[in-house]
Amino acid sequence: MQVYLVGGAVRDALLGRPVGERDYMVVGGTADALLRAGYTPVGRDFPVFLHPQTKAEYALARRERKTGPGYHGFVTEFSPDITLEEDLLRRDLTINAIAQADDGTLIDPYGGQADLAARVLRHVSPAFSEDPVRILRVARFAARFASLGFTVHDSTLALMRQMVEDGEVASLVPERVWQETERALGEPRPEVFFEVLRACGALAVIFPEVDRLFGVPQPEQWHPEIDTGVHVMMCLARAVALDAPVTVRFAVLGHDLGKGVTPKDQWPRHIMHESRGLPLVDALCSRLKVPTAHRELARMACAQHTNVHRALELRPETVLKLLGECDAFRRPERFSEMLLACQCDAQGRMGLEEKPYPQRAYLERARELAAAVALDEADRAGLEGQAIARELQARRQKVLEEHKRASGAVASH
Ligand code: CTP
Repeated sequence: MQVYLVGGAVRDALLGRPVGERDYMVVGGTADALLRAGYTPVGRDFPVFLHPQTKAEYALARRERKTGPGYHGFVTEFSPDITLEEDLLRRDLTINAIAQADDGTLIDPYGGQADLAARVLRHVSPAFSEDPVRILRVARFAARFASLGFTVHDSTLALMRQMVEDGEVASLVPERVWQETERALGEPRPEVFFEVLRACGALAVIFPEVDRLFGVPQPEQWHPEIDTGVHVMMCLARAVALDAPVTVRFAVLGHDLGKGVTPKDQWPRHIMHESRGLPLVDALCSRLKVPTAHRELARMACAQHTNVHRALELRPETVLKLLGECDAFRRPERFSEMLLACQCDAQGRMGLEEKPYPQRAYLERARELAAAVALDEADRAGLEGQAIARELQARRQKVLEEHKRASGAVASH
């Protein structure tokens, strides 16, 4: 029985990056032998074992054969005669198909080290197309490694395109799509994930609402980059620069979906794109089973971003209405995240990346000031129900008027 370190750990060590999980492959072994040695079996689809002490994952070398479309459309064979090369051959990318023996020797039959050096994401063999999740994985690795100079090899992109044409992407389960998307959003270049998916045609299948934004013009005065899809990708880059969490990055992705359904005769203007976007955010979130926290924030950014951009011109009662609609008093963190998403929108525009966005601090402070207004016993004396609410409202409006004056904001019309 020989054991090799495989996958991401070998790749990351060679790249000089911190090594996360360590996965091992066992050649010449059997499940029985591992069980006898005290390993714990895990995994439903194929046998994986946890080391009795380190708890690292050990998988028996395997061979896969495609039997039908989709994620589950293959049978896996295990036997002690399956070689290291056979196992590595059915892996996704050459940079993920390098094995390392105990003594440090690298076994690299498919040119993984050369591709690491050349910064290329390249499939190992035609077996790549047996698993459609790999389309998402390649796009995600591209998002992770783009800043190191990695790009997807033409032949791999062509294969991915073929898989999309063959309908493989349509069979992906929503949970997997979301899982990969969420991870991709957390990578250093999340926009590259969507660009790669677009380049192979998968974006139109998985995220038609996002795909539709490419080719849709916006007014040059506000959007020197013009194209809405390009704008949203720039917003994602801005979200990374501003260190925005994944929830905000997702909200950024969804904030302008409404522009994809503006009637063409209204281009380049997008009146009501905020309300037109909401059903699209909902459709995307329902389809991919996106968690509620992400959905709520995306809906809010979609509905409110134009109002937030206008914050300094809004009348105090309108600011109060905005705070109420965002449930900002009860959910201040979510409100802050929404404001950050709006900043990403405002600065995700060509040449405007560094333009100050005072709206965020202005509304943040407005929320604090309004939240601090309270009625004590004496204030409430003689007031009931609605009257209490009206009094609170009036006092909050007053502090917001003062806030507006102090901030030197222009009076609205
Ligand atoms: N693998 C594959 N096809 C998949 C999933 C995984 O070929 N659909 C192989 C790759 O060789 C990969 C290894 O299994 O390197 C381990 O997979 P995983 O732990 O998901 O990814 P890592 O490459 O370790 O990357 P990450 O850093 O994202 O964990």
